[in-house]
Amino acid sequence: MTVAYPRKFQNSWSARDILKGVISDRELHLVTLNRYRYSEQRSCKDLTELIEKLDGRSPELVRDLSRHVSDEARHAMWLTDLLLKLKANVGNPPGNSYIDEFERLLDSEQKDPAKDLDDFLISALAAINVTEKRGCEYFSAHIYALKRAPQTQENVEICQTIEKILPEEAGHVRWGNRWLAQLADKSPEHRQKVEQAKRKYTAIEQAAFEAGMDITLGAELRRLAKLVEVTNTMPLWQRPQYFIERLPQTLLAPELQFTRIQAAQRVWQRDPQAFIEKFVPMFFNGLKAKDYNRQKATAAQ
Ligand SMILES: [Fe+2]
Ligand SMILES: [Fe+2]
Repeated sequence: MTVAYPRKFQNSWSARDILKGVISDRELHLVTLNRYRYSEQRSCKDLTELIEKLDGRSPELVRDLSRHVSDEARHAMWLTDLLLKLKANVGNPPGNSYIDEFERLLDSEQKDPAKDLDDFLISALAAINVTEKRGCEYFSAHIYALKRAPQTQENVEICQTIEKILPEEAGHVRWGNRWLAQLADKSPEHRQKVEQAKRKYTAIEQAAFEAGMDITLGAELRRLAKLVEVTNTMPLWQRPQYFIERLPQTLLAPELQFTRIQAAQRVWQRDPQAFIEKFVPMFFNGLKAKDYNRQKATAAQ
């Protein structure tokens, strides 16, 4: 059976590389925690929407999802409490949102639970599963980085909060794996659908993740390449419509422009010299290892 795991950013930076940089810059660290908070809070809304779509079908799944909402709400609560204690912002994060990009890339031909419940469940569970895996990867990398950082009161409190969340996220991944394995066991056709859904949602998640990180020149073309990758995981007859519907926003990407302007402003305000010497060349050259510190400082804004 396909084992789908998130890939590194542009196949080069691991979550550990990124988090090591993030925690060394307090402002960026707090912005990242607020992004976690936002994602946790948002997943409550998305899971509730799924419960409403199921409308009583598969009562066991409705039960599991209601517990899942309660877990995610608790995670959002812990992170919100932490951010307030640290006197940090809890506003909606500006610019590219990983979740918005993920949703934009989701299949427009929404599965209808009333028509084929198993098809609907396979899509929904494969989509949840891949984002939970990304969450686990980031939380464990965050803890790894914090254990090796100066043990300030603030770092210890942040680490304790993420350590409370991670085991529950790992539980969500195992839960999704169990449901998908049960569905795959129903028939060879089911197994094939589960495999295909895993490949598709892994490609979609990777594209959404990279879109949120990549703001350097040429990002639109890399987004286009990702869109082609996602499209190629679909049956032939679905490809043209899926691709054409998403092409304009992939290439024009107004929110990408907004994120770039914001990133540029922040770097300028902090250090005009660095803006000219590092940010401008990085923007034109794309992401390179030596520019990593500047990239991490802008990508999570
Ligand atoms: Fe969570
Ligand atoms: Fe979760």
